[in-house]
Amino acid sequence: MRAMEQLIEKAARDLVSSKYAIALTGAGISTESGIPDFRGPQGVWTKNPEAEKRAYQSYQRFQEDPRGWWHERIASDNEFGEMRMALPNAGHLALVEMEKLGLLKCVITQNVDALHERAGTQNLLEYHGSTAKLRCISCGMRFRREEFDLDRLLQEERLPPHCPECRGLVKTDSVGFGEPIPGYVARRSLEEAWQCDLMIICGTSAVVYPFAQLPRIVRQRQMEVERSTSTGIYAVENVPAAVIIEVNAEPTPLTFEGVSDYIIRGQTGEILPSILKEAKRLISATD
Ligand code: APR
Repeated sequence: MRAMEQLIEKAARDLVSSKYAIALTGAGISTESGIPDFRGPQGVWTKNPEAEKRAYQSYQRFQEDPRGWWHERIASDNEFGEMRMALPNAGHLALVEMEKLGLLKCVITQNVDALHERAGTQNLLEYHGSTAKLRCISCGMRFRREEFDLDRLLQEERLPPHCPECRGLVKTDSVGFGEPIPGYVARRSLEEAWQCDLMIICGTSAVVYPFAQLPRIVRQRQMEVERSTSTGIYAVENVPAAVIIEVNAEPTPLTFEGVSDYIIRGQTGEILPSILKEAKRLISATD
């Protein structure tokens, strides 16, 4: 059996035998939907380092001049045009089916493209927000983008939008560099990381914090497992509290630092459906 098939089979066994598996995803899971990633060979930042520098200043610009920021945002909204046109791919859909089978309990994504939501994932944490939503930076309330008539606000010179709840400033929900991760998402993501016994990390270079801290928190968790010995004296063994699997086109710091137990190298749109297919075979074999 080829190495890839052995890894797929191992991941499927780990998934089926897990009690609380979660998936963490990054831009790599959406490239097969036509949305470029950031740091891969064809990445947006790889091809246009200036764009990355601008992105690093976006949140500061909003804080200094929310009106000007909104004018710029609406003018350049076609930035996300390709996201609106994109459709979930086989990788997103495989995670949805794993959730339906009860094999996957939560997806925590860095992506703002809303493809996991459109694919049908129910327990979803959008760690960096979503281009499909807006958010009040005072009370944190999130809105569907269409709840505000942005073109009309622009024409009537009434930008920036204000929160109907608390009158705070409203911005796009996407979390900019230097902007705090919304409290609810940060707390819930930590809860999910703490309780998982399997973490599948799909399509991320794992270099952006605090998201990249989640696998490291899990790796540091150790369970003390007592085991009896021949003399009846109990020994306490530290065993990894969770299995961490990477599904990625290339190795990442998680691979090199031994945070992940193993990496399945390739396309998420092929590997995740293969893991799902093997998991379903294992389940039916035990039925
Ligand atoms: N299948 C598997 N891996 C893939 C695929 C694919 N089809 N396509 C790309 N990859 C890999 C790339 O090789 C890379 O290692 O996915 C990873 C994507 O890494 P990044 O482009 O850095 O994206 P991500 O990790 O999500 O970036 C994190 O950085 O710019 C910010 O806020 C932005 O959320 C983003 C964060």
